[in-house]
Amino acid sequence: MGKRQTIEISTAEAKRQMDIISQLSHHIKDKGLKYFTQTFGCQMNAHDSEKIQGMLTQMGYTETDKEAEADLILYNTCCVRENAENKIFGKLGYLKKLKRLKPDLMIALCGCMMQQDIILENLKKNYRHVDIIFGTYNIYKLPELLQTRFETGKKVIDIWDSHQDIVEDLPSERKFLFKACVNIMYGCNNFCTYCIVPYVRGRERSREPQDILKEIRTLVEDGVKEIMLLGQNVNSYGKTLDTPMSFADLIREVNKIEGLERIRFMTSHPKDLSDDLIAAMAECDKVCNSLHLPFQAGSTNVLTRMNRRYTKEQYLELVRKVKAAMPDIALTTDIIVAFPGETDEDFEETMDVVRQVRFSGAFTFVYSKRTGTPAATMEDQIPEEVSKERFNRLLDLVNSTQAEHMQSFIGKVTDVLLEEVNKQDATLLSGRTSEGILVHVKADQSFIGEIVNIKIISAKTHYLMGELVSDECE
Ligand code: SAH
Ligand code: SF4
Ligand code: F3S
Repeated sequence: MGKRQTIEISTAEAKRQMDIISQLSHHIKDKGLKYFTQTFGCQMNAHDSEKIQGMLTQMGYTETDKEAEADLILYNTCCVRENAENKIFGKLGYLKKLKRLKPDLMIALCGCMMQQDIILENLKKNYRHVDIIFGTYNIYKLPELLQTRFETGKKVIDIWDSHQDIVEDLPSERKFLFKACVNIMYGCNNFCTYCIVPYVRGRERSREPQDILKEIRTLVEDGVKEIMLLGQNVNSYGKTLDTPMSFADLIREVNKIEGLERIRFMTSHPKDLSDDLIAAMAECDKVCNSLHLPFQAGSTNVLTRMNRRYTKEQYLELVRKVKAAMPDIALTTDIIVAFPGETDEDFEETMDVVRQVRFSGAFTFVYSKRTGTPAATMEDQIPEEVSKERFNRLLDLVNSTQAEHMQSFIGKVTDVLLEEVNKQDATLLSGRTSEGILVHVKADQSFIGEIVNIKIISAKTHYLMGELVSDECE
């Protein structure tokens, strides 16, 4: 399909949903209906939920943080690991009771978990109290699905096997006024053998650069200072566009936007992290001093079976290049322990990478078998006692390298975007450094949304304590 035709369809579709939103809004407002949403999984899902909340607000719903008070409960689900799915089934058990007390309650499920046939069958058979089910490709259709449910009184299930057009320009509700996420691409083509994401999010497709830049400019006009560019593998951005563009060049364009102060992005796949991207990161002043670069496993043998397409040495070489270009950069990573067939020696290679790179933070996961992925049928699945023991050893090491990194900030003055009042102590504000590290500081609430210089006075494993540098206090 030509680009022009795609844009027309996408615009017509957005308009159709907006019309339904305005038709529904009288009914919903008059009744004073409330919604509750809960999001599981990654930033991608969190960002989808902002779009869902934007549509619900425009439909006239008000938000509540109490499930028991809500007229519409929506869970945006994740299936990357088994425990994410178990949480949803637990929640649905509770909702069955709630719906008995409140028969008008509407229950909606969406997100990655819905894209799996076995899950859908299970929901249809055993969880009949769910009213609306949709997937990852048709979020923008929520107004229409709700309308159908209101009008027919029947369960609405709408799951697509693959994506259609990228629908632009729908409302979105941001949690913070001054920072926002922006999708630059959807889906993933990598098929790491343990991972379900390519099956539930479809093939890789990039948004047009002009749509991305327009969205960011609008956000900046609206007060946004920091943006996070989102994609499962941002480093392969732009390859499928009619006029291809590299991620490095996209960053250079974003960096030119006046009024924008910070650029973050995730996730980077090591196999596609080019020298040009490293150069762009170093030369663009707005790109934050951090990089999330998952390595998953230290052993090249395991990496091969994971289909990651790089070796331990190549990963370490990349880290060397990144650190040479940006010496103080904070590196974070994802690590999987106990992939099928992982030997003690393989695991020691993972520990070795952590010792060598000294990450400023790491998300560590025990391998979780996902039906339908190649790794699920591999031999030598690792017993739980072994995976737990490895996981705990890894976590201790990760915590100690992280603590060391945190200590290195003491006495330094660093810029922090102050985000919110501290949840435990209302005299403190909390914010993040360019490295993405959490900082608490005594400051007036008027500083929320400002980037200020803060002197770091002490460090814990997961956060820093600081004080405002004096010219900010005057
Ligand atoms: N696209 C991103 C990550 C998406 S999923 C990337 O490639 O880096 C986030 C993380 O979940 C992955 O990096 C991986 O560490 C972890 N993960 C994915 N599938 C998993 C599984 N089956 N078991 C355990 N961890 C998994
Ligand atoms: Fe999953 Fe690999 Fe794609 Fe990341 S790159 S989403 S881990 S398949
Ligand atoms: Fe989960 Fe889907 Fe993200 S499976 S990790 S919410 S892409």
